[in-house]
Amino acid sequence: MTTKNKLLIYGAAGYTGTMISERAKELNLDFEIAGREKDKIKALAETLNVLYHVFTVDDEAAWQKALANKQCLINAAGPFRYTAEQAMKACLQAGVHYLDISAELETYQLAESLDQKAKGADIQLISGAGLFVSYDALAIYVAGKVRNPQKLSVGFRHFGGFSRGSVISSQNIADLGVLVRRDGEIVTDTEAKPKTFRFVNEEEECLPTPLGGIIISYKSTGIPNIEEYFSLKLPAAYLPDLYPATLPDGPTAEERAAGRNALSAEVIGENGEVFRAVMDTPSGYTFTPLAVVAVANRILNNDFKIGYQSPASAYGVSIINEIPDIRIIDL
Ligand SMILES: NC(=O)c1ccc[n+]([C@@H]2O[C@H](COP(=O)([O-])OP(=O)(O)OC[C@H]3O[C@@H](n4cnc5c(N)ncnc54)[C@H](OP(=O)(O)O)[C@@H]3O)[C@@H](O)[C@H]2O)c1
Repeated sequence: MTTKNKLLIYGAAGYTGTMISERAKELNLDFEIAGREKDKIKALAETLNVLYHVFTVDDEAAWQKALANKQCLINAAGPFRYTAEQAMKACLQAGVHYLDISAELETYQLAESLDQKAKGADIQLISGAGLFVSYDALAIYVAGKVRNPQKLSVGFRHFGGFSRGSVISSQNIADLGVLVRRDGEIVTDTEAKPKTFRFVNEEEECLPTPLGGIIISYKSTGIPNIEEYFSLKLPAAYLPDLYPATLPDGPTAEERAAGRNALSAEVIGENGEVFRAVMDTPSGYTFTPLAVVAVANRILNNDFKIGYQSPASAYGVSIINEIPDIRIIDL
């Protein structure tokens, strides 16, 4: 029988996938990489001195071969609308824990719908183990500060621009309209308005935008009413004026280092009690590799909960202790 103790990173040669692979190398994890384009994957594998696999996302036999000795997959190949289902099914078949860095709500719902199958296969299934590691840790933190939390509002201030992959993928979020969770159900809010959030020392008005906490942080907190806001328009809003192929891969290391991301969360308890806190993190594309590799590292150390999970339903707030340069500040 093959020992399953390694990590596989699919979509490894993308902008974010490369940084995830570099972080896995930095932490000395035992991993291999994969993707659909041989030249890019081979070049990265040689730089990192790891084994590689070349296959398209629809190649079921190749998935099983690549996953044979793996404990965990990080799927970094987005838009996830086109890759998550195949990768999740491959993990269910191979009995390999699944992580992705999707920001697309339909991928979260797909993971949620596979809960029973994941339990049957003894695997943990987390979609949204990138930025949501910080969002969800903050959500569960504030939820624990009031009695019977009833409403969660989260503002996300993004810094550092967008990768080409995110610009394209964000169309899948923009198409949804303003979704919120109300009395436990996901509904469209046709009357949503901007909301001002405090980010430690300054305030900023953010636009109503479904970020995924209506699924992910509902899983971890059970709060029946959740609203989300973003400091910018989703980058897909600019697509009509842009040709994606002309966009840069993503922000440079210098651009990423020039500022920080922040999440501001407000929770209201059953007695009207209000608690607010901010999560301060490196800019998004610096943070995501740190976060998803921290989660993968837990799995490789046999720390997981089978079934569909969110980052915080599996790891609570404690996962942030394994991510450099991130902190929660009570307001
Ligand atoms: N919320 C978060 O935490 C967060 C943070 C960062 C990124 N993301 C998301 O992660 C995804 C990747 O972003 P990125 O900036 O790394 O984009 P990218 O540079 O375009 O990389 C995407 C990678 O996925 C591969 N890929 C795309 N579609 C594929 C398909 N159908 N089959 C197989 N491989 C496929 C690409 O392969 P080729 O090179 O062969 O095209 C490439 O390796 C995006 O969806 C982005 O929104 C989310």
